[in-house]
Amino acid sequence: MAGKLDKKSPIGVFDSGIGGLSVLKQLLRFLPYEKYIYLGDTARVPYGNRSNEIVREYAAQCTKFLMNNEVKLIVVACNTVSSVALDAVIKQAGDIPVIGMIYPAAGAALRASNNKKIGIIGTRATINSKAYEKGIVELAKNEKIEVLGKACPLFVPLVEEGMTQHNVAKEVAEEYLLELRDKKIDTLVLGCTHYPLLSQLIGDIMPGVQLIDSGEHAAVASLRILAEHDALDEERNEFIIKPEIKFYVTDLPALFFENAKRFLGFEVDAPDIAHLE
Ligand code: DGL
Repeated sequence: MAGKLDKKSPIGVFDSGIGGLSVLKQLLRFLPYEKYIYLGDTARVPYGNRSNEIVREYAAQCTKFLMNNEVKLIVVACNTVSSVALDAVIKQAGDIPVIGMIYPAAGAALRASNNKKIGIIGTRATINSKAYEKGIVELAKNEKIEVLGKACPLFVPLVEEGMTQHNVAKEVAEEYLLELRDKKIDTLVLGCTHYPLLSQLIGDIMPGVQLIDSGEHAAVASLRILAEHDALDEERNEFIIKPEIKFYVTDLPALFFENAKRFLGFEVDAPDIAHLE
């Protein structure tokens, strides 16, 4: 185990943009008494259609920023970064533990699936990387397992435009998902920060299929790793009602406050601008 972590330090969370707030929402469920620093690289979002090389470079910069803020844990609240650049984050983080999105959700999907046919949806970069598939096959050991991936690039803009219940979203979702439904998957990993906001729509198209929220399982893994390191902030407790979160973005986009509220469920304080290098 690495050197001792400071219990009072914040948890650092980063994403390509505001999508990681769906992960922060889950972190607040499982670790409500912690302090957080959230960084969204809103000037360069989306990462999901970019090359692995550039995502690795950006991810290392985001990690460096959080390290400079003396965090005790880094949560990579972006499936794309977790898929193609986790090693770059771990390298930059040194002794600070890192939680990515892939393994916690891969394990949850394996536990949930009865017929061992698991679907993965995510950005192009996430699906092309086959990171989830590799994770599931590795965790399944010798068990026979079928993993079917499908990139759903239009989901991110649909969510950011607030069109989660719109007919267009329904049509797009059917176009993407019917193939997975026909192949009779019984479990589907929502392998992108934005997809939990579409879970109702996705659930309607995939009746009987268990949806795995990757953020939820990353939050459980975060709780576990902090407990293992004896690094939970015990001084903050149930008497603290308002979560302590410092927000940073690399640009303040037009719909930031509306989207932040939709992803998190409450109004966020104004973010500061982070200059990454
Ligand atoms: N946060 C990204 C993910 O979870 C989606 C947005 C993007 O493409 O940057 O993969």
